[in-house]
Amino acid sequence: MMQKINEAVAYIQSLYQGTPAVGIVLGSGLGNFAAEIKAEKEIPYGDIPHFPVSTVEGHSGKLIFGELGGKKVVAMAGRFHFYEGYTMHECVFPIRVMKFLGIKTLLLSNAAGGVNRKYKVGDLMIINDHISQLTVNPLIGPNDKTMGPRFPDMTEPYKKHLIAKAKTIAAAANIKVQEGVYVAVTGPTFETKAEYLMIETLGGDAVGMSTVPECIVANHMGLDVFAMSVITDVGIREEENVITHEEVLEAAKHAEPNFTHIFKELVAAI
Ligand code: HPA
Repeated sequence: MMQKINEAVAYIQSLYQGTPAVGIVLGSGLGNFAAEIKAEKEIPYGDIPHFPVSTVEGHSGKLIFGELGGKKVVAMAGRFHFYEGYTMHECVFPIRVMKFLGIKTLLLSNAAGGVNRKYKVGDLMIINDHISQLTVNPLIGPNDKTMGPRFPDMTEPYKKHLIAKAKTIAAAANIKVQEGVYVAVTGPTFETKAEYLMIETLGGDAVGMSTVPECIVANHMGLDVFAMSVITDVGIREEENVITHEEVLEAAKHAEPNFTHIFKELVAAI
C-alpha cells in the first residue's frame, strides 16, 4: 500500500508543490463549495496513479489544490463509495494520499437522511460520533505500523475542539445546527421503514452511505477529523417514504450557503 501511496503522492507533487494543511471531502450536492477555493491546481482522479474514478452523478472527480481562509487546502470533489463496487481500501486511498501530502486536519461532508424526528430537510448536523453498519472496516488486512496502530482508539473520532469551533461559528452567523450520531450503511438502497426505525433505536440521528470509513483511516493516521451532514430527507416521517437521488441533491443545494460559511470559517480558525 505504501508504494501505491508514494507513487500517487509523487505524481501529484510533480504537478503541485504546495503543502496543504487541511483536506476537505465534498459530499453529494456540495461540489459548488469548491468555487470558494482560490484554486492553484486541479488534478482529475483519472490522472493520478492508483486513484479510483468517481461514477456518481453530482460528484465530478478531481482534487482541487488552493487557498481557503488563508490556508492551503486540498479538496476532493467527489468521493468513492463502497456501493460503487470499490473495495474498502480503494474507498479510503485518497485519504491516505492526502495525509502524505501533508494535511493535519480532515473535514468531511455528506448528504444524509434525517432519523431524529426533530430534524428538517435542509438542516445541518455536526457529527459528534458514528455507528458503522457499513460492516467492512477499512483497516481490515495487514497493518502498516508506520501509518498507525493495529487497534486504533476511537473515543474521539470527531475532535471536540473542532465541534466547539464550528458551533461558535454557526451561532455567530445565526445558523441553526444540529449535533448527532451518524449511522453509516452500505446503500445503495435507501432505508426501508423498518430500517429507519432500527437506526433510531440504535441511537442514530442521521443515516448515510459514506464518511465513516474515511473517518476511521484518518483517525488511524492521527488526523483531526470534523464532519458535517446536510439532512436531505426525513424518510422516517414520510408516509410514502420515497426518496430519490435528485431530491437529495436539491436539498443539499439549498443548504449549501450555510454549509459553506461554516466550513470556510472553520478552515480559517484551525
Ligand atoms: N439514507 C441513506 N443515505 C442517504 C439518505 C438516506 O435517507 N439520504 C442521503 N443519503
